[in-house]
Amino acid sequence: MAQSRWTPESWRAKPVEQAPVYADAAALAEVERQLAGYPPLVFAGEARKLKGALGKAQVGEAFLLQGGDCAESFGEHSADNIRDFFRVFLQMAVVLTFAAASPVVKVGRIAGQFAKPRSSDVETKDGVTLPAYRGDIVNDIEFTAEAREPDPRRQLEAFRQSAATLNLLRAFATGGYANLENVHRWMLGFVKDSPFSERYQELADRITETLAFMRAIGLNPEASPELRATDFYTSHEALLLGYEQAMTRLDSTSGDYYATSGHMVWIGDRTRQLGGAHVEYCRGVKNPIGVKCGPSLHPDELIRLLDALDPDAEPGRLSLICRFGADKVEASLPALIRAVKREGRRVLWVCDPMHGNTIKTASGYKTRPTERIAAEIKSFFAVCRGEQAYAGGVHLEMTGKNVTECTGGARAISEGDLRNRYHTYCDPRLNAEQAIEIAFLIAELLKTERLAAPARPVEAAE
Ligand code: PEP
Ligand code: CO
Repeated sequence: MAQSRWTPESWRAKPVEQAPVYADAAALAEVERQLAGYPPLVFAGEARKLKGALGKAQVGEAFLLQGGDCAESFGEHSADNIRDFFRVFLQMAVVLTFAAASPVVKVGRIAGQFAKPRSSDVETKDGVTLPAYRGDIVNDIEFTAEAREPDPRRQLEAFRQSAATLNLLRAFATGGYANLENVHRWMLGFVKDSPFSERYQELADRITETLAFMRAIGLNPEASPELRATDFYTSHEALLLGYEQAMTRLDSTSGDYYATSGHMVWIGDRTRQLGGAHVEYCRGVKNPIGVKCGPSLHPDELIRLLDALDPDAEPGRLSLICRFGADKVEASLPALIRAVKREGRRVLWVCDPMHGNTIKTASGYKTRPTERIAAEIKSFFAVCRGEQAYAGGVHLEMTGKNVTECTGGARAISEGDLRNRYHTYCDPRLNAEQAIEIAFLIAELLKTERLAAPARPVEAAE
């Protein structure tokens, strides 16, 4: 199928799903004009570096850890929240790096993860129907007609917040905070306090011994910059295309267009229609692109998406973020992996164990049982192994705070506990401890993969 010419605005001629309706078109145009004049949040060279790292993950030489809020909010923007998230994320990465014995590519759902797709355009409460909340970049979560009116100026605030968040993350990543010995100390603190302490002790001890050995031979954070700093990337769903278009820049080094709102962007499960606006926008920017794959995705459709989004079969370009639900992975994933193989294509297979496992409690809370999250990850690894594909990454909704949004975990959060600290603006997130517990689970799976590796046929063999 011949593709028509792409421009940063060619998506406007396609059907746009999930688009807010702005009453004041002139105000929207003015905001987009201003955004287009702002400096980029990220630089094309960084997106290329991330693509290189994801290319390694596609061939089993790295592992992607992607995670953060379901929806960032203006109300919860603070240095403490960013720091706590980053601290938990780094602990997870250390555990995974050690278990996989390969680099962990660190990508936050942060510094731009504001726009939300909704299953309904409206929300009804006590007989009152208002437009649905679409994320802080569009409208306000408060249930009043005024708050729910899409306001284009919120895009400027989202840009400002993304810049401030990214600035602090860059400082943390390179300014000494991410020092491996710090991260190790935090991780030991987590293990000591965990009710599952014994389960984690062996891996923690081996990391401790390794660091002591490294120090003994002169590898320490004072002497080795790679132990003091880390690469950290940002990502979000490319949903609000007017904003994305305004943040699209031509890279003078390569002559290519990049989304500069974040290093990686993904297409959601509700907006991945072939011929739709979101696929059209994403096909023309050179960033690494994610595609959410849910149970309704047919293998043939997936192949046509790969043709549209990755016509040059570029290493690291595409991550397929699978979000089937714990009980659907076995039925849905093998056909997708086989289709991709049959076409001789390479992608990164990533497990999002969150979005297919959301349930509503009797008291009306959206939650996710951590056992089901764990079950989906295990099933994903098992299917990948059976299909001789690499289980290349995970995509999590998580926070560094001690919230009560997902049930279960070592502290056995019950449905009754959810009301205590239910703070999310959209979907329920793993709290700090649950997130690290999940990292230890993935570590075990990665270790099993690694030990099985020599005997394991590899996708790239032919
Ligand atoms: C999300 O990642 O928050 C989301 C809406 O996911 P999906 O598109 O997979 O439903
Ligand atoms: Co979500």
